Amino acid sequence: MHITTNRLILRYFDIFDVNDVYEYSKNPNVSQPACWISHPNLEYSKKIVEKFIIKKEIAIYHKMDKKVIGSIGVFEPVNPNLKGMEISYSLSELYWHKGIMQEALNYALPYIFKYYKTSSIYCCSLADNYKSIHTIEAMGFSYLFDYLYDYVPNSEAKIVKYYELKYENFYYFKNTFSIKSYKEFRSINNWVELSTIQYQQIKNTKIKIAIYNKNKLIGIARCISDFSYLFLICDVMVLKDYQGMGIGKKMLKHLIKYIKYNYKGYKKIYIMSLKGKEGFYEKLGFSKDICTGLTIESEDD
Ligand SMILES: CC(C)(COP(=O)(O)OP(=O)(O)OC[C@H]1O[C@@H](n2cnc3c(N)ncnc32)[C@H](O)[C@@H]1OP(=O)(O)O)[C@@H](O)C(=O)NCCC(=O)NCCS
Repeated sequence: MHITTNRLILRYFDIFDVNDVYEYSKNPNVSQPACWISHPNLEYSKKIVEKFIIKKEIAIYHKMDKKVIGSIGVFEPVNPNLKGMEISYSLSELYWHKGIMQEALNYALPYIFKYYKTSSIYCCSLADNYKSIHTIEAMGFSYLFDYLYDYVPNSEAKIVKYYELKYENFYYFKNTFSIKSYKEFRSINNWVELSTIQYQQIKNTKIKIAIYNKNKLIGIARCISDFSYLFLICDVMVLKDYQGMGIGKKMLKHLIKYIKYNYKGYKKIYIMSLKGKEGFYEKLGFSKDICTGLTIESEDD
């Protein structure tokens, strides 16, 4: 596997990753919440990476920093009553609070559903590991049950919370869509037809978002920007059959996070709202307090 995301490459482990794995795995803040022991030395990390290679654990490689910063493991569920695959994940503490794990899972989960031909993916977390629970829930997992876990290093048994993600409930994102799809969404919504040149310019939009469910494209939006100060979201469209189900909200939340994490100096995100749709954007935190959108219509049409 080799999946490139905005900031990461997801691939299988290599023995050359040992130093990177040791670097983040010696940290008890990383190991303890994940219920494994902190790596005491490089030799130990080497043994673990050898296991990762055999088990096809997924390495999270940071493109800019050129190192492995975490992992996603995939295995048969620990609880034999569960049918599907289970995942676990770890991330170097230096990369927490940057949306990295959600970015990795957004691309890894579709791969896992397909590669393992499974319709359910499970994930568990210590009940007091709120950061991990936040990530699990943000990916759309639903709570299943509590379970007493006996194998916590240097500790008594602890409660873990089990979650399930069903394929049909999984929504994931891509930062692109074709102009053909864009045209289809416009036509479905009875928006005016544009010229070839206009479509060509729209194709060049740098910031795009597309939301998928069961491999089907169900919503798109784009953002026009100078990439430092102004970010203007427009052309927000969800397929009719999927409207009113929280899809538009999910998609824009993801787009806003994408802008936040990829364009650090951003100051304001604007929205171009049709009349009557403002309430939808207000639910996402947009406000009319600072400015409202005014337009001049071309007289040529
Ligand atoms: C507007 C649109 C993008 C919203 O997407 P959606 O998936 O239907 O909306 P969601 O289900 O995610 O709604 C999120 C929230 O906004 C609210 N909402 C949605 N549309 C609203 C509207 N027109 N006015 C007020 N609130 C609205 C929902 O009730 C929901 O509230 P909740 O979080 O309290 O449950 C979608 O309906 C659409 O594609 N419409 C046709 C194209 C269009 O008009 N695009 C907007 C151009 S500005």
